[in-house]
Amino acid sequence: MSVWIPDISKYSGPRYKAIAAAMADAIRHGDLPVGMRLPTHRHLADALGVTVGTVTRAYAEAERLGLVEGRVGKGTFVSPPRHATNRFAIHDVDDDVVDLSLNLPPRFDLAEPFRRSADALAQDPQAFAQLMAYHPEAGLSEQRQVLARWAHTHLLAEADAARMVLTAGGQHAIDMALRAVLRAGDVLLTEQLTYPGVLASATQQELVVRPVLMDEEGLCPEALESACRQYAPRALYCTPTLQNPTTATMSLARREAIIDVCRRHQVMIIEDQVNGPLADQAPLPLQALHPEGVILVGSVSKVLSGALRTGFVIAPERWVPLLGDAVRASCWMASPLTAAIACDWIQNGFADELLQGHRELMREAASQAHAHLEGYDLRTAPCAMHAWLTLPEPLRAEQFVAEAARQGVLIKSAGTFAVGQGAVPQGIRLALSGAPEPERLARGLEVLKGLLEHRSPLRRYAVF
Ligand SMILES: Cc1ncc(COP(=O)(O)O)c(C=O)c1O
Repeated sequence: MSVWIPDISKYSGPRYKAIAAAMADAIRHGDLPVGMRLPTHRHLADALGVTVGTVTRAYAEAERLGLVEGRVGKGTFVSPPRHATNRFAIHDVDDDVVDLSLNLPPRFDLAEPFRRSADALAQDPQAFAQLMAYHPEAGLSEQRQVLARWAHTHLLAEADAARMVLTAGGQHAIDMALRAVLRAGDVLLTEQLTYPGVLASATQQELVVRPVLMDEEGLCPEALESACRQYAPRALYCTPTLQNPTTATMSLARREAIIDVCRRHQVMIIEDQVNGPLADQAPLPLQALHPEGVILVGSVSKVLSGALRTGFVIAPERWVPLLGDAVRASCWMASPLTAAIACDWIQNGFADELLQGHRELMREAASQAHAHLEGYDLRTAPCAMHAWLTLPEPLRAEQFVAEAARQGVLIKSAGTFAVGQGAVPQGIRLALSGAPEPERLARGLEVLKGLLEHRSPLRRYAVF
């Protein structure tokens, strides 16, 4: 049983701000879970040797920042994140922390290949000046052609450069697709556990998001059918290959069944294939099976680098102008300069080298995870960046994540990916790519194994 008493000695500035900053850190690291009641003003003031007024000011500051909420007569409690937008914020973490919370692209040395590509681009001053100009919102035709071929090779997409619009990464592509297809108040269906970035965009666009049940293969066609009848959705967002967070990949039969439901209910599909290039073998994407009803979202982030911010949508012809409008309104055009680096790496073969290297690392990381967590319900997919662990009874995911964070390992609970208020499985996502060195990954996995073996003594909090 413990009460939260922060060490504020390491925070500079006024004491009330130091307490609020310590609170923000504790929430971020999982030491203060959502819903936990904070100490009374008097209790914390006495413990820290400050005045009650200072603590009152600190709690007011934390409330202003959206970290906590006061309930009359009951006390102050840790708030849920204000927006779905906050679920996936990226924070700096200490070096000794094993961060298995984010799916990261390969961390190979990119400096020399970048220098070579940049030199090559600057070689011809006229061509370079042309690259540095403003361009039509869909992106340069040569770049679209390179990326369309890449999407065809690695995603088996039906890729036609004329139906491709370049974006500033996959997240931007999702946002653009939602903006083109839906209006505020429209219903968007998603898998019951989904990539939080889509929820961030949907929240900003005031869409109504409804979850669809999943099984081992991902979306259930029967559940999709009844959601279509119940909610008359405008669109479905889904990830048929290496689903984030569960790793599920739909079979061809499942893909056909999903398309059949969407076709009958006239539901547009937004298919996320950002992780698709990593898949060992995947059936045809929904987009190749049903090109008229699917907008495919892709990006080079998980293969090359997230910093290139190079992504794309491939859409049915009638949606291309609307997608172009959305891009123009948001950023005029995706950066042709970073897309040029991505295209050069694709053309000179470096992108394939990176992809193979990354796949190899992820394959090894998955077998390492199975070796350490043998006997537990761990789901991996060959070359996927993440794994999914269903916790044994009586463990609960939020508490498990908080305890792991206390022991220096960051992971994400099912709640991070949950849509709506339905029951959430007691599962966690391990981003295996977060710890590229086997020793570091082993350290993180051993901490998780220790927590799994203990099962019950996860710390509970005092209510006082
Ligand atoms: C399923 C999925 N879609 C989209 C994205 C965003 O891609 P990008 O980094 O290219 O914006 C991610 C990144 O983690 C992802 O996992």
